[in-house]
Amino acid sequence: MGRSLLSTEDLDATEISSILDRAAWHKRQLSTPATDRALPLRGRLVANLFFEPSTRTRLSFEMAAKRLGAEVVNWTQAGTSAEKGETTLDSAKTIAAMRPDVIVVRHPAAGEPRRLAAQLECPVLNAGDGAHQHPSQALLDALTLREALGELRGRVLAIVGDIAHSRVARSHLFCLPKLGVQLRLCGPPSLLPRGIEGLAPAGTAAVTHSLAEALRGVDAVMLLRIQKERQGEVLYARNNEYSEVYGLNERTVGLLPQGAFILHPGPFNPGVEITQELAASPRSLILKQVENGVLTRMAILERAVLS
Ligand code: CP
Repeated sequence: MGRSLLSTEDLDATEISSILDRAAWHKRQLSTPATDRALPLRGRLVANLFFEPSTRTRLSFEMAAKRLGAEVVNWTQAGTSAEKGETTLDSAKTIAAMRPDVIVVRHPAAGEPRRLAAQLECPVLNAGDGAHQHPSQALLDALTLREALGELRGRVLAIVGDIAHSRVARSHLFCLPKLGVQLRLCGPPSLLPRGIEGLAPAGTAAVTHSLAEALRGVDAVMLLRIQKERQGEVLYARNNEYSEVYGLNERTVGLLPQGAFILHPGPFNPGVEITQELAASPRSLILKQVENGVLTRMAILERAVLS
């Protein structure tokens, strides 16, 4: 029946490494002429169901499927029976009845992909659910860090920003420590839930409200977007107040060790959590993350359809 990917909590270190190794293999393969490449998902069908906006995740799942020889259909709420009140479950069951080989779901409600996976006969890939999980993002970030840093064991990553509303941060708490990475979570108290470091294995994640403390001696920093669409109330006074204290800019970048890399899952708010200049600087891996998104999702689609 294939394997769903719903949360990084469900993956052990061996499975994570095997997905990253396969993604790296695809990267090497894609450098060979197109006519020489295998198409392991030829004749298969991938259905993308996105109940929230997306550029990177939706397009890279689509490109990944096409790189593997699969066909893709894209469903969004606009123009479909969801606008007439059809529920998420009924929409998903309807599409599953058309017999795709795998369904990719992004949904604003935490836990919705797992609920669908329990009711559908085909595997479900979580493309982001509320502030809960974004497993394919965590895996592509892990691949990007492994490419930049080599062996990950003993490395330190600071994650700075709106931790409270970040499915990426939660996915990393269950992913990177399994590869030996130490995490530091940093943000203002209103955006950093008390005890969140407890999601990671004991001793592998720490929290701080000080950017200087978070960046001391790190190998890389990941900035997170302020997710206003998930904030029910204003959690800090002004963008410039946030960016002066927690944003990466020409002043605060001096706190980052020479040689440390910069990541952001995107999309980013220029001048809030990171300046445009630093996002485009040689130490930024942001576009590498996007490139690796296609490769990682190729590995995830194969795992879902062929295993
Ligand atoms: N990182 C990420 O999920 O981006 P999109 O919302 O563009 O898919």
